[in-house]
Amino acid sequence: MLDDQLKRPLRDLRISVTDRCNFRCQYCMPKEIFGPEYPFLSKTHLLTFEEIERLTRVFVHLGVQKVRITGGEPLLRRDIHKLVQVLHGIEGLHDIAMSTNGVLLPKYAMNLKEAGLHRVSVSLDSLDNQRFGQINGQGVKVNSVLAGIEAAEKAGLKVKINMVVQKGVNEQDIVPMAKYFKETSHILRFIEYMDVGNVNGWNKSQVISKKEILDRINKELPLEPIAPNYPGEVASRFMYKGTTKEIGIISSVTDTFCSSCTRARLSAEGRLFTCLFATKGTDLRTPLRSGVTDSDLQKIVKQVWERRTDRYSEERQKRLKNIPKEGRKKIEMSYIGG
Ligand code: GTP
Ligand code: 5AD
Ligand code: SF4
Ligand code: SF4
Repeated sequence: MLDDQLKRPLRDLRISVTDRCNFRCQYCMPKEIFGPEYPFLSKTHLLTFEEIERLTRVFVHLGVQKVRITGGEPLLRRDIHKLVQVLHGIEGLHDIAMSTNGVLLPKYAMNLKEAGLHRVSVSLDSLDNQRFGQINGQGVKVNSVLAGIEAAEKAGLKVKINMVVQKGVNEQDIVPMAKYFKETSHILRFIEYMDVGNVNGWNKSQVISKKEILDRINKELPLEPIAPNYPGEVASRFMYKGTTKEIGIISSVTDTFCSSCTRARLSAEGRLFTCLFATKGTDLRTPLRSGVTDSDLQKIVKQVWERRTDRYSEERQKRLKNIPKEGRKKIEMSYIGG
């Protein structure tokens, strides 16, 4: 069994397939920075589907059972269902999910389902058009995302909804979102606003804590905690009392979950990262393109995982109490995906 330095196995692989997105969420790809001149990855730098498939097989051999396709916005990658199809053919892979902003789902949901995708996580931060348009930076309307969610459901995909909560931005949407999705078959998850990347100007004062989110919902819709679906689940789960309807809270800031983090991340250009907040990755594309064997690739990944000591969120908690300033340059969320 392959374990890292903190005895965490390698179980999940999050694959970014593009660093581009059709949204410009202020907290992820602010327009001022990700403008027309921004140097996005060029096509030759992106891993091909064949290369992703080969690497995924290597990861599955080392223990990975779940993959998540992310971006940027993964549905911007041409023929993405073909990647799903090849991943679906890998023995030992039990779960194939995708994180998306949802607007292209009406076009692609059916293809994705037929190709073997199991589920999607759709981001939606507000049900108010004015606020949502401002958050996504492009004036995209709430209905475009709701249509995507509906298309995914119709196609037979399981759907989760992710809402990033920011103080002073969309805190008034917590309860309306809870009420709206309580009446659907989708699980809503609230995400504490995190200091990913370098461009969102994150500050602890912009975070609404898990406790506060729960308090606000509890006042109108009483909740009770329920057990995780599997050890190391990112979201803590709660159920509306007297129902079977659940919600989740992802609290990377106030209630960290590094001790059970089994996630590796592969960037669209083939760099391997062992933490969402990493500063450096390991280039897998160069060896891949220089004709090494699968067994050589396995050795590289194994070595990286065995040396892994990442526990950024736990360290952040300590730092927030002591030294506020931090100088290191982290990867961007749009580069590595959620
Ligand atoms: P499932 O439980 O398989 O549905 O997936 P998940 O909980 O990993 O959900 P998803 O991939 O949709 O993640 C939701 C959000 O949680 C991401 O967009 C991130 O904001 C956050 N998140 C996921 N994994 C990590 C992680 O390893 N570290 C931190 N700090 N945040 C994470
Ligand atoms: N904090 C928390 N979540 C974030 N996401 C993007 N940036 C942040 C951040 N700074 C979320 C998106 C989406 C997923 C891909 O990551 O809203 O749900
Ligand atoms: Fe927004 Fe997701 Fe696009 Fe980032 S990748 S800008 S969070 S839709
Ligand atoms: Fe895993 Fe890094 Fe997130 Fe901790 S901060 S849960 S180590 S990705």
